[in-house]
Amino acid sequence: MTPNKTVKKNPAKLAHGLRPFVKPIQQIRQVTPRTKAFTLKATNIARTAVPGQFVMVWIPGFDEIPMSISAVQNSLGIVEFAAAKVGEATAALHRMKEGDLIGLRGPLGQGFKFPRSIDKGPLLCVAGGCGSPPIAFATEWAVRKGHEVHVALGATTRSDLLFQERFEEQAQKVIIATDDGSDGIQGTSVNAAAFHLDIDPRYSACLACGPEGMLTSLAELLSNYPIPLQVSLERYMKCGIGLCGHCIIDNHGTRVCLEGPVFDAKILRQTDFGQWKRDSTGKRLPIDASDESCEG
Ligand SMILES: Cc1cc2nc3c(=O)[nH]c(=O)nc-3n(C[C@H](O)[C@H](O)[C@H](O)COP(=O)(O)OP(=O)(O)OC[C@H]3O[C@@H](n4cnc5c(N)ncnc54)[C@H](O)[C@@H]3O)c2cc1C
Ligand code: FES
Repeated sequence: MTPNKTVKKNPAKLAHGLRPFVKPIQQIRQVTPRTKAFTLKATNIARTAVPGQFVMVWIPGFDEIPMSISAVQNSLGIVEFAAAKVGEATAALHRMKEGDLIGLRGPLGQGFKFPRSIDKGPLLCVAGGCGSPPIAFATEWAVRKGHEVHVALGATTRSDLLFQERFEEQAQKVIIATDDGSDGIQGTSVNAAAFHLDIDPRYSACLACGPEGMLTSLAELLSNYPIPLQVSLERYMKCGIGLCGHCIIDNHGTRVCLEGPVFDAKILRQTDFGQWKRDSTGKRLPIDASDESCEG
């Protein structure tokens, strides 16, 4: 049989950027004591990614795990993600050196939707704990599009404040909160958001990422204001492309990896948002207010 020289490419796979590819890590930076930022050249991802989308990162010999895109440099084709060391796969990632190879699939999922007009008021961006990566990308994106952005940034302690300098460079106002009061106000990113709202509540939208307990408190706070809230959810993911069903939100059927991870908070009412999540085996676990998305 004559081999067919023209191999047909699967347009669906190409269109959604689902083909995995292996790339050398270009640069690694320690950004907090437990978080490193990794940059790679991945032109297709850099060209099409929007804030809130994520990549599946394959760490050879360990696992493939979801990571939010924390920045892109479109002109150079550079993509960045920032990983906290919390378990086996992220510890292996932290041991890697510049030039080592990792796999990437993406950009995956749906990102934040920005208000069309910049005249309807500033954007309120809220980042708690390890929620800074997609919010840093969203802040830079929104500022580039002409939006005024106010940020509420929270962490357990001063040294864990992730991307503080980036937020302070980009946003018009930043309120910091730490659980131990070592920087900013003593409290959480939701307390910092409440401060912004007390000063002037005329925001066009609120974009948030962080532990699910924090996101539910924020949704409760914003229920007193006519401000649309979008949250980026973290659920255990295996395929990252809507095939395995592992990340489904209960009683709703929505897949966090495909229809999310960013959701309009209104859609999450009547679901297990803030109540339950699943572990790697699919077992349901309760979420409480102290739940941390990337405890270490
Ligand atoms: C859409 C999305 C975006 C994310 N973005 C970031 C980010 O920007 N920075 C960051 O540090 N972390 C991010 N995470 C969390 C990150 O994927 C986990 O911390 C990582 O997978 C832990 O792997 P591990 O083997 O080191 O830890 P493990 O010991 O296996 O697990 C530690 C914790 O991570 C969770 N986790 C483990 N594997 C997965 C998985 N496949 N999917 C989801 N959660 C998992 C576990 O439920 C547990 O709570 C994101 C998760 C999701 C779903
Ligand atoms: S991780 Fe497989 S459907 Fe979402």
